[in-house]
Amino acid sequence: MISIIVAVADNGAIGQDSRLLWHLPLDMKRFKELTTGHTVIMGRNTYESLPKGALPNRKNIVLSRQPGAAFPGCAVFPSLQEALENCSKDKEVYLIGGASVYEAGLKLADRIDFTRVYHAFPKADTFFPAFDPEEWNETERRDFPADDRHAYPFSFITYMRK
Ligand SMILES: NC(=O)c1ccc[n+]([C@@H]2O[C@H](COP(=O)([O-])OP(=O)(O)OC[C@H]3O[C@@H](n4cnc5c(N)ncnc54)[C@H](OP(=O)(O)O)[C@@H]3O)[C@@H](O)[C@H]2O)c1
Repeated sequence: MISIIVAVADNGAIGQDSRLLWHLPLDMKRFKELTTGHTVIMGRNTYESLPKGALPNRKNIVLSRQPGAAFPGCAVFPSLQEALENCSKDKEVYLIGGASVYEAGLKLADRIDFTRVYHAFPKADTFFPAFDPEEWNETERRDFPADDRHAYPFSFITYMRK
């Protein structure tokens, strides 16, 4: 099973200045619960944005075309295809961003674990690619209001490929 896991704002934004645009503890918790024990594949920029490097208790894969690129605790591959070939025996593989990995992975993914953040971020510089809703069934949705720990309302939405 290949899943994209992503949090997307109303204007399609996913990041700015190599960082996330929000701090949503429940979304972080969901990300950890879903991905722990499994394989995560990320682009080099996303790896470099991680505060403590490789994510614990997960097989970490970083995509980079730079010859000789190496990142502690991570396997490195020069293409998504080669990374996925390495993961053919892994039960769950999560594509965790950023935009270029989502772009390459959208046509291959079986599922999208989507978080919609109900706010627009006009200064964002990184966006989730357009995806065709006709190709996906929404199978699950949970809505959450803003509260003292979450500045914006958000929904967890699961899309399965039709
Ligand atoms: N909202 C969310 O859910 C979410 C999730 C993840 C990230 N983000 C945000 O997204 C932003 C980072 O995304 P980004 O698009 O700038 O960068 P990125 O996709 O994380 O990394 C881009 C780099 O990864 C390598 N790469 C990507 N796709 C590749 C492929 N198919 N084959 C080989 N190498 C590949 C290349 O590295 P080389 O240059 O080394 O060749 C490329 O320059 C940050 O702001 C981050 O916070 C948001």
